[in-house]
Amino acid sequence: MKQFLTVAQEAAQQAGALLRANWLEPKTIEIKTDIVDLVTNVDKAADALITNILHARFPTHKVIAEESAVSGQESPYRWYIDPLDGTTNFAHSFPHFGVSIALAHESQMLVGVVYDPLRDETFCASRGNGATLNGSPIHVSPSPTLDQALVLTGFPYDRRKRSEFYLRFYQAFMVRTQGVRRSGSAALDLCYVACGRADAFWEWRLHPWDTAAGALIVEEAGGRMSNFSDEPFDITGEQTLASNGLLHQEMVEVLRQVLAPR
Ligand code: IPD
Ligand code: CA
Ligand code: CA
Repeated sequence: MKQFLTVAQEAAQQAGALLRANWLEPKTIEIKTDIVDLVTNVDKAADALITNILHARFPTHKVIAEESAVSGQESPYRWYIDPLDGTTNFAHSFPHFGVSIALAHESQMLVGVVYDPLRDETFCASRGNGATLNGSPIHVSPSPTLDQALVLTGFPYDRRKRSEFYLRFYQAFMVRTQGVRRSGSAALDLCYVACGRADAFWEWRLHPWDTAAGALIVEEAGGRMSNFSDEPFDITGEQTLASNGLLHQEMVEVLRQVLAPR
């Protein structure tokens, strides 16, 4: 486990250095599925860098990376990589984005690393060993209720077509919490719940590479992950809910009310 975590950390920090060197430089920006779904030349370069490191170190493992799809052999060991989480921020030189790398064995997440290159913050977890920020243990917040909470969210890439639907959730939390933030990086959002900078996070339609590392970091920091009905969290599912645990039932209840037929 230690070796996996060390390599993930090295790869995240090398890719992070590439993001840090390029975030204020001109970028080549392409549109993926929709006008709001972007990819830059730096996303691709960071993806190649991480993928090459992992294939060189673990040639029998499978690698699932956002920009280069699936590579390597069929294996119970699967790496999930988001080389640049927060591409829209990055494309606009808005200083909030990170690198996310996780390793699963069968259906169990073993290690997760999220690196924020501008703050030089490395969030790490390995199963059963807790979560850390730059080597120091982290824990979720003690906020007991939603009316004392700061919560985080994001909007998926189909938001122009389903804006009313997504805004119903935003409105419900806006009037029940001390604030709702949309940071533009789901991986960092999860880490912020893990270290107590925020109390909960919800988002529709994230991908496995967005959540694989952050979800383990939340759980190892004492928080809870689930879907919106409080069923076990699945990185391939449509719903991501993270919290400090204390607020979880309140979050689920609000989500249930918003989803109820009207
Ligand atoms: C996106 C970010 C964003 C979230 C989107 C994700 P990307 O990832 O995590 O915060 O709202 O749903 O797709 O495209 O920047 O890697
Ligand atoms: Ca992402
Ligand atoms: Ca990405």
